[in-house]
Amino acid sequence: MSKKRVAIIGAGPSGTAQLRAFQSAAEKGAEIPEIVCFEKQDDWGGLWNYTWRTGLDEYGEPVHCSMYRYLWSNGPKEGLEFADYTFEEHFGKQIASYPPRAVLRDYILGRVEKAGVRDWVRFRHPVRWVTYREDTGKFRVTAEDLKAQKVYTEEFDHVICASGHFSTPNVPHFDGLDGFNGRVLHAHDFRDALEFKDKDILIIGTSYSAEDIGSQCWKYGCKSVTVSYRTAPMGFKWPDNWEEVPLLTRVEGNTCTFKDGSQKRVDAIILCTGYLHHFPFMDEPLKLRTANRLATADLYKGVVWNANPKLFYLGMQDQWFTFNMFDAQAWWVRDAILGRIEIPSDRAVLDADVTRRVAEEDASDDPIGYQGDYVKELIAETDYPSFDVDGACAAFYEWKTHKKQDIMGFRNNSYKSVMTGTMAPAHHTPWVDALDDSMEAYLRN
Ligand SMILES: Cc1cc2nc3c(=O)[nH]c(=O)nc-3n(C[C@H](O)[C@H](O)[C@H](O)COP(=O)(O)OP(=O)(O)OC[C@H]3O[C@@H](n4cnc5c(N)ncnc54)[C@H](O)[C@@H]3O)c2cc1C
Ligand SMILES: NC(=O)c1ccc[n+]([C@@H]2O[C@H](COP(=O)([O-])OP(=O)(O)OC[C@H]3O[C@@H](n4cnc5c(N)ncnc54)[C@H](OP(=O)(O)O)[C@@H]3O)[C@@H](O)[C@H]2O)c1
Repeated sequence: MSKKRVAIIGAGPSGTAQLRAFQSAAEKGAEIPEIVCFEKQDDWGGLWNYTWRTGLDEYGEPVHCSMYRYLWSNGPKEGLEFADYTFEEHFGKQIASYPPRAVLRDYILGRVEKAGVRDWVRFRHPVRWVTYREDTGKFRVTAEDLKAQKVYTEEFDHVICASGHFSTPNVPHFDGLDGFNGRVLHAHDFRDALEFKDKDILIIGTSYSAEDIGSQCWKYGCKSVTVSYRTAPMGFKWPDNWEEVPLLTRVEGNTCTFKDGSQKRVDAIILCTGYLHHFPFMDEPLKLRTANRLATADLYKGVVWNANPKLFYLGMQDQWFTFNMFDAQAWWVRDAILGRIEIPSDRAVLDADVTRRVAEEDASDDPIGYQGDYVKELIAETDYPSFDVDGACAAFYEWKTHKKQDIMGFRNNSYKSVMTGTMAPAHHTPWVDALDDSMEAYLRN
């Protein structure tokens, strides 16, 4: 019998978790399928790869990066630590709790470099089209080798889509934007807060991008921050030059008018209005269409495509948990492919699982605990190292309290690793004064 072939789309944190999951089974003596990971960037790391580019890249591909300079983790690292590769193992010491982007990227990549799976990835090979053939029972994956300028198609027994969902911006229109006399951009194209030094900025949206991009601009010296909300204000204790106003209704020149009739003159408008789940390379019967929520549509156990259980999606949930949740999913998907876990053959059972998850999320007033329970459920079914998920939830609850107490100071707090039991050291510089976000500066403890 020829070996099964598995295609993974994307080598970000989810795709690399899948590579590590298969490698760890092989390390323990299991026979694993042939793995081909298609990655459109020239390196692994997904969103954690920073680029100055926006719009299209040098090959004409949409730029994947939504991250920016000076981005620090917005949640404690104690909530996302890998159970099989701790921060202490990677850095040789415990580090402070809110690492900047470059530090987390180094950590993510350290694990897969150690696993020696880089050869499984075809870099600069964006996937163009995926179909399923009923007659052969296989997927046909069409990809482009950008460097060789060659489009080709191969067959696979399974496809695992790990292409992320925070790269295609959701861009609403507001009356008068086309005549605005300043700069308008979406968070996806934001790169450097210094661009907005001494400027009055308007931010639309109230979630993590709004909070963090506003805080960055404030930290690097913008004149004022106005945040416009659709549903409700964030309600933190903001600095004096920061206000929250109802939704933008109209723009005339540089003057913005809000739903309550108030007005503000601004130099720039940053749309922090979220992202779309976007899979232009998936044939319609395979395409996930879901809102950004904890219980996604149409995925049994949050990962199996109900309409064709040979197809899997990783990391498609909204995220409190990230890296260790992607691990939990990747180990589970690996075991489903290896035949260690049985996926029910009755479609009604798969759909009922989704219906139950959606209802439970809707009924829950504790999204962190809800997602923590999901992580527990998956890891209980595989050999992913068990860890204190409740302890990780506790770090998230503390984090929320710390944000309420001091939105510009919450990153100065420390938490205990649930993997090693070690308390993180306090960072050497308060976040508002730490203008250098390099790895060298952060690790100088
Ligand atoms: C601004 C921002 C800040 C964030 N900060 C944090 C944080 O502080 N802490 C945290 O835990 N999480 C954070 N996140 C959440 C982030 O979603 C996860 O950390 C993580 O990057 C998700 O991993 P992923 O592999 O699922 O997706 P991604 O990181 O998006 O990786 C997907 C990969 O798929 C590739 N790809 C896409 N389409 C194709 C294709 N057609 N063919 C081939 N390859 C393709 C991409 O190039 C990319 O490498 C942040 C997200 C954003 C947008
Ligand atoms: N430093 C960091 O680590 C960092 C920084 C930024 C982002 N992130 C991550 O990036 C991910 C995405 O976060 P996000 O904030 O970009 O997206 P998000 O969480 O999906 O939030 C989208 C926001 O846009 C608003 N919105 C959507 N359409 C709108 C419209 N038509 N008019 C007005 N408002 C509209 C929503 O408002 P409603 O509430 O009214 O729906 C919501 O506030 C998260 O995982 C987050 O953790 C991390």
